[in-house]
Amino acid sequence: MIRAVDILRQRLGTLRPETAIVLGSSLGPVADAVTAPLRIPYRDLPEFPQPKISGHSGEVFAGLLAGKPVLVLRGRGHPYEKGDAAVMRPAIESLQLLGVTQIILTNAAGSLQPKMRPGSIMLITDHINFSGMNPLIGEEGDKGFVPMTAAYDVKLADALRAAARAEAIELHEGVYVWFSGPSFETPAEIRMAQSWGAHAVGMSTVPEVILARRFGLKVAGLSVITNLGAGIEGASPSHEETKSEGVKAVDDMVKLLTRFCAAGEGS
Ligand code: HPA
Repeated sequence: MIRAVDILRQRLGTLRPETAIVLGSSLGPVADAVTAPLRIPYRDLPEFPQPKISGHSGEVFAGLLAGKPVLVLRGRGHPYEKGDAAVMRPAIESLQLLGVTQIILTNAAGSLQPKMRPGSIMLITDHINFSGMNPLIGEEGDKGFVPMTAAYDVKLADALRAAARAEAIELHEGVYVWFSGPSFETPAEIRMAQSWGAHAVGMSTVPEVILARRFGLKVAGLSVITNLGAGIEGASPSHEETKSEGVKAVDDMVKLLTRFCAAGEGS
């Protein structure tokens, strides 16, 4: 059976990025910052998720950001699409087999604190898995017992903080809680998440963090805040709002990731 990794190896030739970036749905335009990209649609990659969410279909961009080789995955599969928490497993395993050592996962998220407004960016320092799912259920042998104590790499986080400072971008920090979706939360659920010490809420990323750690990749996470959580200041989030507000943070995200790569962390 031809696997996605074989096709990626062949198309990439000698390009062997160590850094991969996964773009949340509203952040697709960040991929346009990749120079001289080789573009490989997910439909050419067996086992890669075929995103069905409005926006665009999935595509791998392989090229340079600030002169450093990167693989940018535009589009992800979400566990709420088919109930498969491991939908991103083949993609993440392919990255590891290609030699990627670090992955930056981005998403759109709701804020659980009024001071973190839509349009801002939050560095994920830890997470809460409230989905009842885990992408490693059924893992053979002992490989599923992945420690999650230091899931978010301290050095990558520091590098992103430094990049934000250099670009004068305010970078919030906090805990991301994963609700399966696709329905949004109730105000009561949002109050519960706040009382648990979470700062942002979303429907992705956590399973990818778990998979990336399973495959030994260093992980960083960035949330673009698209709305206040349900009930906060009367908020009633919608898919339309998350898409339109997320786009507003694209410029800052490009600056942040470009500076991060330029600083050498992305090489
Ligand atoms: N809840 C869950 N997922 C989200 C939200 C939200 O408020 N905003 C963007 N993604």
